[in-house]
Amino acid sequence: MTAMSNRFRKMGKRISFVPTMGFLHEGHLALMREGRRLGDKLVLSIFVNPTQFGPGEDFKTYPRDFNRDCALAEKAGVDILFTPDARDLYVKGSETYLHQEKLPGHLCGLSRQGHFNGVMTIVAKLFNIVVPHFAVFGEKDFQQLAVIRRMTKDLNFDIQIVGHPTVREPDGLAMSSRNSKLTPAQRDAALSLITSLRNARRSVKNKQTDSNQLIDKATELIQSYPETKIDYIKICDPETLDDVSNIDRPVLMALAVKVGKTRLIDNMILTPDS
Ligand code: PAJ
Repeated sequence: MTAMSNRFRKMGKRISFVPTMGFLHEGHLALMREGRRLGDKLVLSIFVNPTQFGPGEDFKTYPRDFNRDCALAEKAGVDILFTPDARDLYVKGSETYLHQEKLPGHLCGLSRQGHFNGVMTIVAKLFNIVVPHFAVFGEKDFQQLAVIRRMTKDLNFDIQIVGHPTVREPDGLAMSSRNSKLTPAQRDAALSLITSLRNARRSVKNKQTDSNQLIDKATELIQSYPETKIDYIKICDPETLDDVSNIDRPVLMALAVKVGKTRLIDNMILTPDS
């Protein structure tokens, strides 16, 4: 992979990189289109990274379909599909992991201990191997994007991190590889995430600025569906991810909900009318 990147670089080509865990959907494809637009060569990686899954999490059952992904990648104009093997990436004796002080101490980092250490470690390794000019990440994983931006700055990676808006199903559900695991009833319950976010956006436009009230309303709606279990619903500063109690500037509303056994996340920026 690195040799090919070096060859591209010698030819003066700009390399875009989209890291994924596969089971590609329209959200991933949108990131790839953005990558194509930014650079001359597009690298896609597919690697279900074991170090970002906790003990009770879904590493083993994470959806995988390598042949379908290959066909989609080819159709999307990917120049290099990089699909490393875990034994090659984490060679025997590996014992170095990245850690970040503050951002992982919020939102998903609280219920997924060590998750962002795993994400940062794999993304840094992939950055070193792929040596891209641009790397594209989705805003659906808002905290992940923030953590990666911080890491890129702190570790002096010479890579431009590009965020891409969340791609949704026609009814608003944020696209996710994990949606494939939902039963029809769970799929219906999952819509309560985006409905809650949209309700909150409307309330904020109507000058309701108390975060707790908005969170209570969202909690009530989501809990009205069977099979849902709220992990968190937060309204916070989009940069620091610290809680915001009175919405007097653009804030991030982020939530994580288990629907059956499937953990879903979504988020939206809420902007008060000035
Ligand atoms: P994965 O969940 O496969 O997502 C790969 C990229 O696609 C991430 O940047 C994610 O934010 C983006 N993405 C997922 N769903 C999206 C949607 N509906 N709209 C827009 N973008 C979306 O995130 C990971 O993999 C991993 O943590 C990874 C960064 C690859 C490290 O292992």
